[in-house]
Amino acid sequence: MADYILGIESSCDDTSAAVLKDGLLMSNVIASQQVHKDFGGVVPELASRAHEQNIVPVVSQALDKAGIKPSDLSAIAFTRGPGLLGSLLVGTSFAKAMSVALDIPMVMVNHLQGHVLANFVREDGKEYDPPAFPYLCLLVSGGNSQIVRVDSPLDFEILGQTIDDAVGEAFDKCSKMMGLGYPGGPVIDRLAKLGNPDRFKFAKPNIPGLDYSFSGIKTSLLYFVRDELKKDPQFMEKNKEDICASFQKALIDILMKKLVKAAAQTGIREVTIGGGVSANSALREAVVREGKKRGWKTHLPEFKFTTDNAAMIAIAGWFRWKNGEKTPLDIAPVSRIADY
Ligand code: KG4
Repeated sequence: MADYILGIESSCDDTSAAVLKDGLLMSNVIASQQVHKDFGGVVPELASRAHEQNIVPVVSQALDKAGIKPSDLSAIAFTRGPGLLGSLLVGTSFAKAMSVALDIPMVMVNHLQGHVLANFVREDGKEYDPPAFPYLCLLVSGGNSQIVRVDSPLDFEILGQTIDDAVGEAFDKCSKMMGLGYPGGPVIDRLAKLGNPDRFKFAKPNIPGLDYSFSGIKTSLLYFVRDELKKDPQFMEKNKEDICASFQKALIDILMKKLVKAAAQTGIREVTIGGGVSANSALREAVVREGKKRGWKTHLPEFKFTTDNAAMIAIAGWFRWKNGEKTPLDIAPVSRIADY
């Protein structure tokens, strides 16, 4: 009999459910919340309410698309954290209710592990080329910027991480500051394609080891735009493509410098990226370019698996379940998880 795993993701503003059959993805349904657009960021209270509305139809659709009934499930994987507590509570409580009703185990998943393992999501008829162990993953999202060493699907080590803002936060906050909207990453990515990345220079951090910092470059952009607007109120409008291209280049240079250093220090040549910012076209190009130069084997996640999705939670849960893990019913979600 086949093993079916249901994955549930509700850590931020996407309600998602996915089904795996013996590790193969059968469905991956995502309800993205539009309610936050007018606020320039995710409003936690609204996110929780939207998850509560979405979770039943999203899970039903995922089961329907996979062509199975709830009673066919072998286990339920769910995101325990990190994320917004109210949002996580919806997915966690739903997983518990299903686990009790169906009398099947549930397996908690660290959301970040999902991103780091996204390349292991296997789809029918598509090339499957996951990284070999050990590999490095540059995990870049709205809440995290880390370089992770992965020795097995259950064995992760953070080699470096941001000491202040995440890189996605830098994209988002700076986009908001420039009046370009939210989320900032996709807008800056699009405008950057039309601009000159070498026109403006921004202060880059000097942080030891493999850690990152993105708060200084944010301030550097803020002062730069403020000073230029004093001289010419139309400055932003006239130069937004070049500003975005130059700012994006600076962020990617910062990310790549430490990734190159991590690969050199560890001698690891299997390299992946993950998280929302891994959708960035210039970052993807930079990783491939650097990889060719340095003899890395690079693995880029499909766009649909870069942002929050339950397929990556299901695959991370699948590995844990195969390892015999079961999560007790008195588990509580956590907004922060310091380690893996
Ligand atoms: O992983 P994710 O969906 O959510 C979490 O933070 O968990 O990542 C969202 C982040 C946002 O900061 C968004 O601006 C960024 O990913 N992002 C991008 C791009 N698409 C999404 N950043 C740069 N370029 C993109 N194309």
